[in-house]
Amino acid sequence: MPTLLQAATSQVGRKVLTGATGIFLVLFIIFHLGGNLAIFGEADAMNRYSLILHNFGPLLWIARIGLLVVFVIHAWIGISIWFRKRTARPQKYEVYSSKGGPSKQSLSSRSMAFTGVVLLIFVVFHINTFALGDTGTVMIDGQEATDIKSLVIETFQNPFYAFGYAFVMLLLGAHLGHGVWSAFISLGLSGKKASAILYTIGGIAAVVLAIGFLFIPIYIFFGGGCEAALISCE
Ligand code: HEM
Repeated sequence: MPTLLQAATSQVGRKVLTGATGIFLVLFIIFHLGGNLAIFGEADAMNRYSLILHNFGPLLWIARIGLLVVFVIHAWIGISIWFRKRTARPQKYEVYSSKGGPSKQSLSSRSMAFTGVVLLIFVVFHINTFALGDTGTVMIDGQEATDIKSLVIETFQNPFYAFGYAFVMLLLGAHLGHGVWSAFISLGLSGKKASAILYTIGGIAAVVLAIGFLFIPIYIFFGGGCEAALISCE
């Protein structure tokens, strides 16, 4: 069985690693959106969700660091594949076409390296804002919990954060729009029909996830969620 280093240095291994890490990250993103949508649920739903996470204690930090490592491996290999392609073909194509079926070249596919780097920088900034952010506490079922909901609402009162996040969520949609399909192809999925179905599913997933995440800062910025928060939205 090849080691991680061997996989990361062979061309096929690199493709498989970007695909596998990409699918893992998409699963995390789906789970994360589910947790964040608790902001629209019962008044204390988001803080309850956060309490469940925090009750994992040091395991939560081990999982967060593991997640960040997966992000970095995914970005590092993705960028190196991009550089390799660029070095192999420094001149841009004038017309995009492919041998089998319609080409999957699009703005989304051509901006993967750019959107990926922005997302990686975003995640570091994002963990600093929320996971390491300064929160108050609330009591939930007799247990002290972090008031993450008020921190989220307070943060998105600031137009820089609200619209900055909304913009990055559009880039997330663009990245996933090509990335979901590409991940399965890298893992060896073949056949024109399966490829076309997956391209459509990937596109729909990208739109749903981007809109789901984008809605949160915009809704909060325009006053939603204030009534349930402990802080004042004036
Ligand atoms: C509007 C969009 C988003 C909101 C409101 C949001 C909110 C949060 C919050 C509140 C936490 C801290 C959870 C806690 O400690 O209780 C968190 C953590 C985190 N977020 Fe997000 N997030 C958003 C989008 C994203 C996106 C798009 C990504 C990845 C591309 C992401 C990646 C992470 C990671 C890696 C963590 C640390 C792990 C965790 O605590 O679950 N977030 N986010």
